[in-house]
Amino acid sequence: MEKNIPILVISFFKKPVAAPRDILLTDMHSHLLSGLDDGVKSHEEAIEIIKIFHELGYRKLITTPHIMSDYYRNDPAIIKQALDELNTIISKTGIDMNVQAAAEYYLDEDFIKKITNDEPVLTIGDKYLLFETNFFTEPYQLNEFVFTAITKGYKPILAHPERYQYMTLEKAEELRNRGVYLQINIPSLLGVYGKPPMKLAMKLIEQGWIDFVGSDCHNQNHIHTLEEAYKNNYFVKALELPLLNNSL
Ligand SMILES: [Fe+2]
Repeated sequence: MEKNIPILVISFFKKPVAAPRDILLTDMHSHLLSGLDDGVKSHEEAIEIIKIFHELGYRKLITTPHIMSDYYRNDPAIIKQALDELNTIISKTGIDMNVQAAAEYYLDEDFIKKITNDEPVLTIGDKYLLFETNFFTEPYQLNEFVFTAITKGYKPILAHPERYQYMTLEKAEELRNRGVYLQINIPSLLGVYGKPPMKLAMKLIEQGWIDFVGSDCHNQNHIHTLEEAYKNNYFVKALELPLLNNSL
């Protein structure tokens, strides 16, 4: 009998406290416009995913197709047309969800040129600019890009810092000090991208260095991971931070 006592105590303290599902109202990173990137394969799939977002308490989705000069040559007009198509279907289903679109820009020469030359880009809320980098080495233009973007009045958000092999806690702090907002992927906390991203996401939450959380939802597997997250202690912790999601 005595042997069971410590086990009971440990399991009591480790029991996750599920987060209420109506804290996070806005998701600002997903791939729900079919045909534009490696996200959903049909409007029907998008609708099934949007229904689950609704059940989780979300009321606004800012979906962000990839823009990458080598692979995904999307532009504001293409994205707007796909968004209009999806919204027409959403209005027929009667789901109470405000769906907007921006983009997830890959940091390449094309993107830097757009920012430098004041070409139109898709932003989120008050000039937030979601961007990603390659997954392996720190881009040599990163600091210069951040400086230019901020000088032009943009608020750069680095998508999923925890997923880059070159990212460290020190680098994340440096980027924040340069004015970059950080957005972790909720699925990272459940190990969807492996252990190193999970650990770095946890550390970033412990430091309180997270400005946004995103689903980065590409498909139905991701949205089911999001349902699981509400029982994850680090996700619960992240929701206690002054996240900017709901301000968008
Ligand atoms: Fe993404």
